[in-house]
This record gives sequence, structure tokens and C-alpha cells, in this order.
Amino acid sequence: MSVWFLFNAALLLWAVWNVTAGLSTHTTYVHIILGFAGFLFFIFNWTRNAVFSTIRNVESRAVKVKLARMSKRIVPYHRWTGTTALILIMLHGMSVISFYSFDLSNMKILTGMLAALNLLILVLSGWYRLLFDSSLKIRRLHIGLGISMFCLTVLHFIF
Ligand code: HEM
Ligand code: HEM
Repeated sequence: MSVWFLFNAALLLWAVWNVTAGLSTHTTYVHIILGFAGFLFFIFNWTRNAVFSTIRNVESRAVKVKLARMSKRIVPYHRWTGTTALILIMLHGMSVISFYSFDLSNMKILTGMLAALNLLILVLSGWYRLLFDSSLKIRRLHIGLGISMFCLTVLHFIF
């Protein structure tokens, strides 16, 4: 099993923790729910990385085949779940900014903007890979952007 399954599960738990804390102290919920929904779509797509690395490393052929079948069923949705993550996060950012104003000295807003920018490039790299160029270079870029997105989301949750 890939260690990414554990990392992703930990990030998901952390998100649930932060969202619960946020909902219990706020009277306006929409911006938090939009952030959480966008995050769920991101982590769903990113788990593809955990599945792929497990397929590469696991000994059992039966497990390999099972994971590969599951992964094949999800392929047609991957592009749309990724694009939906971006749309939801843009709505999250817009509602946050209309609520708190565009203040980049607020670390939560700064790290959120950086993560959202990363997500935009990640989604664009996905469409580029699908439509124009499926070379190893673009594949590495797509995965690299997934890793940096994970790290920036961690930063966003810290503040
Ligand atoms: C578009 C730029 C972004 C801005 C300006 C932004 C800003 C914020 C702010 C200010 C909060 C705190 C809300 C409050 O406590 O009232 C928040 C919460 C949250 N954001 Fe973002 N964010 C952005 C992008 C993202 C991204 C890319 C993700 C994840 C993929 C994300 C996920 C969340 C989640 C799950 C929460 C609720 C939990 C928590 O407070 O940590 N946001 N965001
Ligand atoms: C939240 C955003 C996204 C994340 C986290 C993400 C992550 C991933 C991961 C981890 C893989 C498997 C890595 C590998 O090739 O070994 C992958 C594959 C791929 N992604 Fe994305 N992706 C996102 C959005 C998109 C979007 C919007 C598209 C648009 C078309 C896209 C297109 C592709 C393609 C064509 C593949 C290779 C096909 C396959 O998986 O069988 N991705 N992505």
C-alpha cells in the first residue's frame, strides 16, 4: 500500500477537524462549505496517485488487477472532478474575499491564493496532457503539481 493513502487520509481528517471548528464558531457557513467541497474533489483526484503507486509496488497480481480495473472505471470522470474542484475553490475564494476583503497579509488568504493558483495550473496541465501532449515530461509536471498542491493545502490548513 502506498504511503500516500495515509497522507491523504490524514489530510482529510484534518480538513474535517478544521471545518467542524470553523462551523461551530461562525454564523456564515457558505464559504467554509465551498472550501470543503472543493477540497473533497481535489483529494479524490489526488488519491489516483496513491492507487497508481500501489499498482506499481504491490506484489499480489490479484490486487494489481483489482486496482487497475477500479482505476479504469474512474478515468472518464477524472477530468470533470478536477475541473469541478477548481470551480468550487474559485467560488470559495470569491465568497471569502467578499466576506473578509482581499488582504494578503492574512496568511489564510495568502496561502489559499497560492494553493488556488497551483490548482489552476494543475487543472490546465491535465487538459493539456489529455488534448495535446501525453509525454513523460507533462506526466511528471501533472504529478509534481499534485504534490505541491498537497503541500500548499497543508499550509492553508495550518493558519
Ligand atoms: C482561492 C483562494 C483561497 C482563499 C482566499 C481562501 C481563504 C480561506 C479563508 C480566509 C478561510 C477561513 C474561513 C473562516 O474561518 O471564516 C478558508 C477556509 C478553508 N479553505 Fe480556503 N482559501 C482559498 C483556497 C483554498 C483551497 C485551494 C483549498 C483546498 C483545496 C481551500 C480549502 C479550505 C477549507 C477546507 C477551509 C475550511 C477549514 C479551515 O478553516 O481550515 N481553500 N479559506
Ligand atoms: C484536482 C486536480 C487534479 C489532480 C489532483 C490530478 C491528479 C492526477 C493523478 C495523480 C494522475 C495519475 C498520475 C499518473 O499518471 O501516474 C492523473 C492522471 C491524469 N490526469 Fe489528472 N489530476 C487533476 C486534474 C485533471 C484534469 C482537470 C484533467 C483534464 C483532462 C486531468 C487529466 C489527466 C490525464 C489525461 C491523466 C492520465 C490518464 C490516466 O490517469 O489514466 N487531470 N491526474
